[in-house]
Amino acid sequence: MTPPLLEVRDLHVDIPMPYGRLHAVRGVSLSVDIAESVGLVGESGSGKSLTLRALLGLLPRPARIVSGTILIDGEDVTGLSAKQLKRRLTDTMSMIFQDSLTALNPVMRVGDQIAEVPLRKLGKSRSEAKAIAVGLMREVGIADPERRYQLYPHELSGGMRQRICIAIALSTKPRLILADEPTTALDVTIQAQVLGVLRQLKQEEQVGLLLVSHDLAVVSQTCSRLYVMYAGKVVESGDLVDLVTAPRHPYTFSLLRSVPDPDKRVARLLTIDGRPPDLTDPVTGCSFAPRCPFAEDACREAEPELAPAGSARLSACRRVDTAQRWTAMVEQEVSQEAVSRQ
Ligand SMILES: Nc1ncnc2c1ncn2[C@@H]1O[C@H](COP(=O)(O)OP(=O)(O)OP(=O)(O)O)[C@@H](O)[C@H]1O
Ligand SMILES: [Mg+2]
Repeated sequence: MTPPLLEVRDLHVDIPMPYGRLHAVRGVSLSVDIAESVGLVGESGSGKSLTLRALLGLLPRPARIVSGTILIDGEDVTGLSAKQLKRRLTDTMSMIFQDSLTALNPVMRVGDQIAEVPLRKLGKSRSEAKAIAVGLMREVGIADPERRYQLYPHELSGGMRQRICIAIALSTKPRLILADEPTTALDVTIQAQVLGVLRQLKQEEQVGLLLVSHDLAVVSQTCSRLYVMYAGKVVESGDLVDLVTAPRHPYTFSLLRSVPDPDKRVARLLTIDGRPPDLTDPVTGCSFAPRCPFAEDACREAEPELAPAGSARLSACRRVDTAQRWTAMVEQEVSQEAVSRQ
């Protein structure tokens, strides 16, 4: 069997704080197959960005990787020297950030920013690099690329700038794109267009995607498999359709219920009471227990490990059975509501 393109095992990231150590990523394991689109979803502060940045050696100071293994094509690359590791990672992956305005150089023409890698790293001539950049602009759906090549970032809309960032990410010919909230700053229509570009890359160019978002609707439009993070850990993973139709963790369930129904037939809004735990304190028990309506004493005593919960599913809930019943109950309620409206 072909090994995954990227595999991360038991990643731990800490941040030294004046009042203690924030254990922000607590043993995350995940994988992405060749040309697969995988989503990493969870509320603000759950450790999604740090996980992604750790993968490319781009952690903000003073965050640091405490332990963890990264495998590319099945090969453990963590033993490589820092320089070799960085090279191997950047040869395989590129990253797209949320804020395209700060990601781009304000005083350089956008086309030249895309042409940088072909020019400086791939040894292309100036005219070849320009042709590559124009081609990439076309590929990410920028009309009239020759003219827009000459523009500066502030002369483009947010959606266009994000497309430029995708084109820059593609200029290194990555096999995997890591995207951190790439559409959060955009309005819904433009967001859908940018997600469309990412989907198309997967189909046409066989580029894999690891997409981070706090918005389940965004990852649902783009990814076929999901990891749900809570308080620095993956609490559930599985295929998108299985996961959204039958969540196996109460947190995923709450997350799903907080997504407004697109056709507005059923009001699905449900806020999750409470806040995630302070990760500078040691966690005892399930980190979701204080907010979970199904928590029992055992849940507060020992932190549950991820365990198989159906086909290709993992859940870190010791009350998976209850989560399933809960889903069934709510689905029934939703369908009754729908019937009564007809
Ligand atoms: N540079 C930093 N200094 C101090 N704390 C940080 C830093 N970066 C992240 N953190 C903390 O680490 C935790 C995880 O942060 P991370 O940015 O990974 O969350 P996230 O899931 O990406 O959230 P969001 O949806 O808000 O982007 C949070 O508690 C955050 O406050
Ligand atoms: Mg983030």
